[in-house]
Amino acid sequence: MPAIEKEYARPAAPPATSSLSATRAAARDCTACHLYKRATQTVFGEGPKHATIMLVGEQPGDSEDVAGKPFVGPAGKILDRALAEAGINRNEVYVTNAVKHFKWEPRGKRRIHQKPNSREIAACRPWLEAELRLIKPKLLVCLGSTAGQTIFGPSFRVTRERGKVLSSKFAPKVVTTVHPSSLLRQPDEMSRDREYARFVVDLRVALKAAGEG
Ligand code: URA
Repeated sequence: MPAIEKEYARPAAPPATSSLSATRAAARDCTACHLYKRATQTVFGEGPKHATIMLVGEQPGDSEDVAGKPFVGPAGKILDRALAEAGINRNEVYVTNAVKHFKWEPRGKRRIHQKPNSREIAACRPWLEAELRLIKPKLLVCLGSTAGQTIFGPSFRVTRERGKVLSSKFAPKVVTTVHPSSLLRQPDEMSRDREYARFVVDLRVALKAAGEG
């Protein structure tokens, strides 16, 4: 086994019988990959235990790393706005990430987000699987390609599948859409408005599917 894999190959998630709070507590000490070294803390999912909808993002950003809560920074603000516009109450959904430590590189005084790689995603996967097992959402919303590929595999493409009601072994229904931070990166106001409107449409599809049989 390569040295790096050996170093981090520790059992990460607690047994299937653990409660959500026990799982959250165990995740605080996760060292299953190197990301814990630079991150302030593990950012575990948040929301009601009996939520019918679970949202999965990529990984905590700078603000989330400091606050210890998912989606509280700029992407979280736009997500909150879009959820409200789609008729989804954020307090009623469970919000989490595929990777639970902030991956970043220094650039001057700033901490610049780095996309997690497949090994980091795989190391964190037991936590997401534990959340799915404990919450048992009727519908999962994957926000962006990292979440989509975590659920459907590396060949999954958000551009092809966004807004469709799919199914997986993790949840009876899965809707994938873009990551809210992609809306912040749009080059001008017109494309920002257009992409935001498409995002809200996808969330409405998710809400409708969650309410159906
Ligand atoms: N981006 C994510 O994917 N998750 C967060 O919690 C914040 C930003």
